[in-house]
Amino acid sequence: MTNHEAHPEAALPIETPPARRLNLTRHVVLVGLMGAGKSAVGRRMAAVLHAPFIDADDAIVEAAGMSVPDIFASHGEAEFRALERRVIARLLAGPPHVLALGGGAFVDPLTRERVRASGFSVWLRADLDTLVARTARKKGSRPLLDAGDPRTILAELMERRHPVYAEAAMVVDSGDQPVDRLVHELIGRLAEAGVLA
Ligand code: S3P
Repeated sequence: MTNHEAHPEAALPIETPPARRLNLTRHVVLVGLMGAGKSAVGRRMAAVLHAPFIDADDAIVEAAGMSVPDIFASHGEAEFRALERRVIARLLAGPPHVLALGGGAFVDPLTRERVRASGFSVWLRADLDTLVARTARKKGSRPLLDAGDPRTILAELMERRHPVYAEAAMVVDSGDQPVDRLVHELIGRLAEAGVLA
């Protein structure tokens, strides 16, 4: 006797109810330090939700027609911040999407205010070792970390920026857990908070 004869239902396709599609009711805005995983988590979460994903740094690069290190080198950080503020304002005026901000963007009071008005901010919090390890993989792409010892710089930024990131609507620890597990947790919490419906 084959297995199917003993268990006829085993031959049938498994009936799963169609998953209910969760839609974004506003932008989900990921904030946190360089290396916290904002882009990786945002991209994955958007794919799972079939929602658009935008990386603010990519939009800045597109608007400027040059890389982030080149903007810093040719125009300075102040110009980068001004462009960053304008580009994020434009993105926030568009339809809801998952938006990963560069690490310094949420520190700007006007950007914070705009995020509060049209989005739901999530701080991806990671410890120093994680940030150092992750940023080391993409050397040369983050001008702030080229100015000295990355660990010392990240530790200083943590001290200065963590109180500001703490103003985010939600905090998620982005330690060593795989991106998929973090995204799963995040989606559950966002649904509970009514950001996904
Ligand atoms: C910055 C973070 C970078 C980028 C720029 C400045 C910052 O983005 O916007 O290099 O001030 O923390 P990521 O956080 O995506 O690396």
